[in-house]
Amino acid sequence: MNGKRILLVIGGGIAAYKSCELIRLIRKAGGGVTCVLTDGGAQFVTPMTLAALSEAEVYSSLWDLKNETEMGHIQLSREADLIVVCPATADLMAKMAAGIADDLATTLLLATDTQVMAVPAMNVRMWDHAATQRNVGQLRDDGVIVLDPDEGPMACGEFGEGRLPEPDAIFAEIEHWLASSTKDRAHPLAGKRVVITAGPTREPIDPVRYIANRSSGRQGYAIAGALARLGANVSLISGPVALETPRGVNRIDVETALEMEAAVDAALPADVAILVAAVADWRAEASPRKIKKGETGGPPDLNLIENPDILAGLSRSDKRPELLIGFAAETDKVVGHAKAKLDRKGCDWIIANDVSGDVMGGADNSVHIITEAGVESWEQMPKSDVARKLAERIADVLA
Ligand code: CTP
Repeated sequence: MNGKRILLVIGGGIAAYKSCELIRLIRKAGGGVTCVLTDGGAQFVTPMTLAALSEAEVYSSLWDLKNETEMGHIQLSREADLIVVCPATADLMAKMAAGIADDLATTLLLATDTQVMAVPAMNVRMWDHAATQRNVGQLRDDGVIVLDPDEGPMACGEFGEGRLPEPDAIFAEIEHWLASSTKDRAHPLAGKRVVITAGPTREPIDPVRYIANRSSGRQGYAIAGALARLGANVSLISGPVALETPRGVNRIDVETALEMEAAVDAALPADVAILVAAVADWRAEASPRKIKKGETGGPPDLNLIENPDILAGLSRSDKRPELLIGFAAETDKVVGHAKAKLDRKGCDWIIANDVSGDVMGGADNSVHIITEAGVESWEQMPKSDVARKLAERIADVLA
């Protein structure tokens, strides 16, 4: 911590008093702290207390920066090694997620490219609210480190998740982040190549008709984006979907299973392959011209041909990536069927999900991670959170 500078943004919640202890711990370890107090925060701790503990000037209003000519708010955040928002209230995180800059704290949070760590504290219902969870997901997607709150009794008399973690636990997170090397902490997957398939495939019957499925591609796209954010070089082989390409991802569009197989092969070698696509198991013997209703004397015979299994083929090939991950969309016996798929297809992990509800095309997913070691079931969460957690898991394994 020696010589490191923390910019501490203090939001308006009862837990603000714990930030005083955090300042003390940072100072004791040789770090410097500059405090930015929101109007709400000032209802709970005084500038005088913070100035005494940090032995530095405390800032609270955009308008009292002496040095606006030097863009004082930008300067404040750029001098820091890490910005810690503690406590991060539901309101403050909502503003951060939306990019609102209506006071000194939110303005400097928007005007900085320094790493931000948010330490949430709020009532359990506010924490559980869909809006807060959406904002937390957005902030994490934007690269903000959002610590998980503790569970326990709250100042308002309720019990649950939302308590500010103890100052020594927050201090440990800060220390850990400052200790890891710049490359490791921001881009742990730098230099790693990842191939991802996503979306449906479209198998033509004739020039106007095709066989397809309900896959939206959202989960695969979210995973591609999450891995790119961790520094991986990502090739996303995509069936036809209505999604924007995630930032930093190299997207290759295909239509059919055969095209997808060829594109995967062309994108190799890779360290990791994640096959999320819902590949059509069958393709028709496509007619070069439109099949007319009357000409076949009843429904046409599609002469279905089995498509190659891209995942199984990859696991047997000499280009097999070090980590090969499949998905299994099931409507019943989810884990049982998925385990059988893991063995049959020879991949390292299989991510099983129950698609009997509105998962296909929906925003949430509830998955089971199946590996040789066993089954780990994750609670239902936004697809972007599944993607982030999976990307972090992959980074851990490759490290
Ligand atoms: N997969 C693939 N190529 C195929 C079919 C599936 O690469 N031709 C991959 C998918 O991308 C996914 C995994 O295999 O990672 C499982 O896909 P799924 O459709 O659930 O499996 P199927 O083999 O089609 O099995 P079933 O129809 O019995 O559910």
